Amino acid sequence: MSERICRSLIPKISVIGAGYVGEAAARHLITREVGDVYLFDIMEDVAKGKALDLYHAAPIIGTNRRIYGVNVAADGDGSEYAALEDSDVVIITSGIARRPGMSRDDLLKINAKIVRDVADKVQKYAPNTIVIVVTNPLDVMSKVAFQTLGWHRDRVLGQAGVLDSSRMASLIAAAVPCSATDVDAIVLGGHGDTMVPLVRYTTVGGIPVSELLSKEQIDEIIQKTAFAGGEVVQLFRNSPALGSAYHAPGAAVAQMAEAIIRDQMHILPTTVHLEGEYGYEGIYMGVPVQLCNSGIRRVIELELQPHEREMFEKSANHVKKTTQEMQALLGL
Ligand code: APR
Repeated sequence: MSERICRSLIPKISVIGAGYVGEAAARHLITREVGDVYLFDIMEDVAKGKALDLYHAAPIIGTNRRIYGVNVAADGDGSEYAALEDSDVVIITSGIARRPGMSRDDLLKINAKIVRDVADKVQKYAPNTIVIVVTNPLDVMSKVAFQTLGWHRDRVLGQAGVLDSSRMASLIAAAVPCSATDVDAIVLGGHGDTMVPLVRYTTVGGIPVSELLSKEQIDEIIQKTAFAGGEVVQLFRNSPALGSAYHAPGAAVAQMAEAIIRDQMHILPTTVHLEGEYGYEGIYMGVPVQLCNSGIRRVIELELQPHEREMFEKSANHVKKTTQEMQALLGL
């Protein structure tokens, strides 16, 4: 009885996929005491091992939150997913990561099946939760989760813009140079080479970035932001264990989960199902979204300038094409 009462006071975050990104997200979530974390993975005992290892650091980190590992059988009936019950937020990172030379779209076939299977279990065991998808290709995987779950779009989100914006902000901070926390940058659109950085809205301590960096410097940063994920993959190439970036993606999704659980009403670039906003229907794209404890509080529609609109359309067309390919592939 007492356990049940305590449980209801402590938020619960389930992270499906205890790989690099899932682990990084879990570390941020317990460090910031956002809630108790349940890590799920098909690799036997890996989630349990990572949970135990992280919990061993709890006294040093100074956290009161707990972290648990859950084994799920790759070919079983999925009953282990019953541990999802009462999750406030479910983060989906399960899938395979990008390897050198592999585009995000190459991942589509394998990851779509994984995300669909996982979303089925979320539907069954945590029907009231809020889902944040991280698995790439993000825009399409978010749509797979959305179609599988059949929920209102307010509860099925994707993480991309927080990461892309943070990458851009960090590059600006290094170039100025200034504190990374002084920079506010916003990147919209699809997650990939067609992302849409909005320089006009980018500030450093409230000052437009164009006052502090030259056009050439800003253009270079935009280029680097779009290929930042690929650059990390390249730098990891000599490690057989490492795949793609994970520290920043893990921190980014943890920030979104925190904004939701703590009802912070933060406005964060979030991948959402567009239903008319920005002139698009039925695709997942990154746009500014106010997050609250029921997921989306509102989608903010910016008045884009012609060159920004052109970039947004290019990005949307790419996402649309990949989404249609995925739907044909899965018969959705
Ligand atoms: N259920 C649970 N876990 C699964 C499943 C499944 N059906 N399928 C795969 N996994 C697990 C793998 O066993 C692995 O531990 O998902 C984990 C993925 O971890 P990594 O391979 O380390 O990949 P990671 O770097 O964490 O990236 C995960 O996030 O940023 C994206 O592109 C990235 O799509 C990738 C995802």
